[in-house]
Amino acid sequence: MEESHRITSINHDIFFGNAGQILSNYLDQHPEKKPVLIADENTLKYCWPVLLNASKRLNHAKIIQIKSGEENKNIAGCKMVWETLVNLKISRNDIIINLGGGVVTDLGGFVASTFKRGVPFIQIPTSLLAMVDASIGGKVGVDFVGLKNVIGNFSMPELVIVDVHFLKSLPDLQMKCGFAEVLKHGAILDNAYWQEATKSSCLNLEHIKSLVFRSVELKNSLVLSDFEDTHDRKKLNFGHTIGHAIETHYLNSSTVLLHGEAVAIGMIGEAWLGKESGITSEACLNNLIRTVLKTYKIPNIGFETHDALLEIMRNDKKNIGSTINFTFLKEIGVSVINQTASEPQIRKALSFLNEIAMD
Ligand SMILES: NC(=O)c1ccc[n+]([C@@H]2O[C@H](COP(=O)([O-])OP(=O)(O)OC[C@H]3O[C@@H](n4cnc5c(N)ncnc54)[C@H](O)[C@@H]3O)[C@@H](O)[C@H]2O)c1
Repeated sequence: MEESHRITSINHDIFFGNAGQILSNYLDQHPEKKPVLIADENTLKYCWPVLLNASKRLNHAKIIQIKSGEENKNIAGCKMVWETLVNLKISRNDIIINLGGGVVTDLGGFVASTFKRGVPFIQIPTSLLAMVDASIGGKVGVDFVGLKNVIGNFSMPELVIVDVHFLKSLPDLQMKCGFAEVLKHGAILDNAYWQEATKSSCLNLEHIKSLVFRSVELKNSLVLSDFEDTHDRKKLNFGHTIGHAIETHYLNSSTVLLHGEAVAIGMIGEAWLGKESGITSEACLNNLIRTVLKTYKIPNIGFETHDALLEIMRNDKKNIGSTINFTFLKEIGVSVINQTASEPQIRKALSFLNEIAMD
């Protein structure tokens, strides 16, 4: 990947390269803007020093620390940040810098876009998932009453800065989580990229770094063609109907199951459903199962949970009318949106996941 390469998105650019340098250039061009940093305890510890070293202006930045973790991506977290912004007298002439994983970029972006009707913000993703997914496409928001991302809006940042060097300190489990979205981008859009992504059997840092640019490019292509998520962008939902139900179910249990792990499992379930519906080829299903199982362990979700999972799917915000909506694969690299499956079929898909579960 070239240093300081950039691609165009809606009303902003996505920069790739040295985050400190790119941010420093931006601040030099906007001397009137007071910088405010939003980060969590981990990104403050591991990522903030990199930016601080690059720009003297950041010595005077105001820092707002939020608590890491999905359970803190909520209105209480927003309230704390909004109150701090009021106390700091931040205005629309200033700039908010969100430095972190998807929790920071989602919450920080939402807070910025709603404070005084919108303070400009910069997304600097530091997790793999935030680099290839959460910071791309302008969706910002928080969880509410146990429902994920139900409060939010579309709001474009001033710029996004993707610096893969931040991945050095990212825990392996989080890397694995983001890798599911990398796989998904290949599966829904680009067979050659899928092959590239799956050629290494372990999550090697250098290999992952080499994949980030193309993943962003693929997601951004869907955002550009369908910003409001009414047609092509829905391809990104592959794996997310079953995956989201499993993730939501596990949120209320003592077993930790991260978003990317749930999506990986969901991709298998939905490829199986696609095969049942005559859309997904057998070769595609087998390829997907083989690949996912190399990196992810399928937990035994238990037959007794199927009713609860279906109930969550019935309430999925992606549904149209009363049918549960899916994106299916035809082949690796080719996906079709607005597919449906009957509840008995979905139960069979969940049973299939039980059959291949590892515990
Ligand atoms: N807006 C969107 O389009 C979109 C898309 C996908 C996911 N999301 C959201 O993204 C969130 C998940 O994002 P995530 O997986 O990045 O989770 P996260 O933000 O919780 O980050 C995961 C963990 O890694 C830590 N971390 C991040 N970068 C680090 C680094 N460089 N070094 C060390 N530690 C680091 C964080 O502190 C956290 O503990 C979810 O809330 C999901 O809803 C949003």
